[in-house]
Amino acid sequence: ALERTLSIIKPDAVAKNVVGEIYSRFEKAGLKVVAAKMKQLSKQEAEGFYAVHRERPFFGALVNFMISGPVMIQVLEGESAVLKNRDLMGATNPKDAAAGTIRADFADSIDANAVHGSDSLENAAIEVSYFFPATDVYAR
Ligand code: CMP
Repeated sequence: ALERTLSIIKPDAVAKNVVGEIYSRFEKAGLKVVAAKMKQLSKQEAEGFYAVHRERPFFGALVNFMISGPVMIQVLEGESAVLKNRDLMGATNPKDAAAGTIRADFADSIDANAVHGSDSLENAAIEVSYFFPATDVYAR
């Protein structure tokens, strides 16, 4: 089915200047960018976005990393967009990420892992609406 998912290019990948290379992978896989913005997240915004991880031991480090520089946030639309984006990203830990995936090619560690992508259709809807009002998402 046609789906939308939230993607974040994290501060490490923005700093490496690979936003275009990552967008190219989305486009070649048939995913369309239907909303996008660059943003320096506040601590409160990052904590709210990752609220499901609040009790995890890595929560503080995750938030600090996500506010260490600007991120590129986008909504991707396409057939099976949630799973397709996760396949493009590869495993959370770049050490486990399959060759040719975004994390295998651009990530340095489980914290600085280049990209975030929604893990389910239900979370995708929550995450998209966290960053984009419906009027800023351009169905096409
Ligand atoms: P992301 O997909 O953005 O979701 C939560 C992030 O927490 C994850 O990518 C990792 O960058 C980070 N993280 C750090 N340690 C862990 C861990 N042990 N398990 C899962 N995620 C972790």
